[in-house]
Amino acid sequence: MKATLITGASGGIGEAIAVRLAERKHDLLLVARNAEKLEKLCTRLSEQFGIETQFIAGDLSKASTAADIFAQTQHRGLEIEMLINNAGIGSGGEFTEIPLQSELDMLQLNVSSLVALTHLFLPQMQQRKSGTILNVGSMASFLPVPYMATYAASKAFIRFFTQAITEECKPYNIHVLLLSPGLTKTKFNFSAGIENEKGKALNTDSVSAQTAEQVADEALKALDQRKHVVVSGTINRIGAKLLTLIPNVFLARMFARSYRKKLN
Ligand SMILES: NC(=O)c1ccc[n+]([C@@H]2O[C@H](COP(=O)([O-])OP(=O)(O)OC[C@H]3O[C@@H](n4cnc5c(N)ncnc54)[C@H](OP(=O)(O)O)[C@@H]3O)[C@@H](O)[C@H]2O)c1
Repeated sequence: MKATLITGASGGIGEAIAVRLAERKHDLLLVARNAEKLEKLCTRLSEQFGIETQFIAGDLSKASTAADIFAQTQHRGLEIEMLINNAGIGSGGEFTEIPLQSELDMLQLNVSSLVALTHLFLPQMQQRKSGTILNVGSMASFLPVPYMATYAASKAFIRFFTQAITEECKPYNIHVLLLSPGLTKTKFNFSAGIENEKGKALNTDSVSAQTAEQVADEALKALDQRKHVVVSGTINRIGAKLLTLIPNVFLARMFARSYRKKLN
């Protein structure tokens, strides 16, 4: 069976993309930790849209999970024609106050597992001379973000990695898209533990916040147009352009000052 693999599909942006692809009759393989949510979503989407759905419950903050997922797809006879690396979490606060292990787990999830899944599934796409990879970055990838240092750096990695891989994939007719959402109304801030007093000081652009469905629609439109980069939301697009014009040292200083001022 040919399928689209979506990580982080049990909620938020990943779930919204799953719904949109189901509407387009894509058969889906959904991945996240929460098996119950994945099972419910699989049942709903297959009943509503008459598609094949499967799920794998796995924790991508563990180094072995990407290889386990790949092995499962081979065992189940799944041909992954589209890989959507969406699963990711954030962290916020003063760097030394965040437990080291949670920062390292986030890097495994946001960065290493994304690289591993891409490395595992790309060779088969190269052989078939077709395929699509969508990596979810962030507006945070456009600047160093004090008090969200590791998360923003993980997304900067995704931005550069994806843009480099885009070029390597062109001779194989594999389409690669980098999606950079801005603030989106999902459980992200809650999961990142930044919905507390200190975390609220990190939220700078709540006016431009999008829904997960709006982000999913922009992602699919960009895929249809075979774009390689999309920043979702008009305000975010303008913001991203402006950010590239300002030196990073200056941006980081401004951001740190504003955060400290908000916290007094
Ligand atoms: N929301 C925003 O403001 C925003 C802005 C820019 C970029 N993004 C990016 O968008 C992507 C999706 O975030 P979201 O806003 O949709 O957040 P979300 O609502 O918290 O969803 C995150 C998804 O990732 C899964 N996940 C979390 N930890 C996991 C792990 N260890 N292993 C496997 N799956 C895991 C979650 O499912 P389980 O809990 O079931 O594992 C869930 O399905 C992330 O890469 C994020 O960095 C979000």
